[in-house]
Amino acid sequence: LRPADLAGETVLVTAGPTREEIDPVRYISNYSSGKMGYAIAAAAARRGARVLLVSGPTCLPRPAVAEFIPVTSAVEMRDAVMNRVGEAGMVFKAAAVADYRPIRRAERKIKKGAGEAPLLELERNPDILAELGELNGSRLLIGFAAETDQLVAHAAAKLKAKNLDLIVANDVTREGAGFDVETNIVRLLYRDGRNLELPQMSKTALADRLLDEALEIKRQRSEG
Ligand code: PMT
Repeated sequence: LRPADLAGETVLVTAGPTREEIDPVRYISNYSSGKMGYAIAAAAARRGARVLLVSGPTCLPRPAVAEFIPVTSAVEMRDAVMNRVGEAGMVFKAAAVADYRPIRRAERKIKKGAGEAPLLELERNPDILAELGELNGSRLLIGFAAETDQLVAHAAAKLKAKNLDLIVANDVTREGAGFDVETNIVRLLYRDGRNLELPQMSKTALADRLLDEALEIKRQRSEG
């Protein structure tokens, strides 16, 4: 059994997809099941942390955390995160946030017409993690990168651009990695340029490993 080594710590976790509504019956989203983020939330709570879990729509049972904050869209997720981040010493951003949303949401179901297919106009959603990276403070910021090519280059660019302490890069094209599976295969990229590939492991085991990494970064920081 692990010790309650996160006692006294508040951990903010985001999980799952966001949904961007097109009309009352349709939306844009992605394949995130919430499993990765929920595993982190559950592991942190088991290790004694007060966990704030901001979750997009998932089919998973609610883990035993201090606060469960359900959201639907990226804008709602941003507002929930910004409202609560001040309480957190560690943030894990496992959610798969839609980068774009429809400019307009139709009030009624869009009907098939005889004419041309409708064009869906999109606009950018806020980048929540980039906004978190701009906040001052000693809070640890751990992001994820879901990539289909150039894993290290793309993840390294996100680590830098979003001012993160650590980024967890998963190649979501690999079997046993990424969306809606029980395991993950990730490469950890650190601020000092190091990177480390971890073997395939359950999302629960990876969650504990990421919490260990966060504690180690915190320890190194406090030693200056
Ligand atoms: O939920 P599962 O089915 O278990 O799948 C797990 C996972 C594949 C979703 C997870 O491991 C993962 O990779 N999560 C991040 C997915 C993602 O959106 O990656 P990205 O490379 O597009 O974004 C990079 C980082 O910025 C992420 O931490 C993301 O939360 C954050 N982001 C992205 C866009 C945006 N508008 N706001 C953000 O905060």
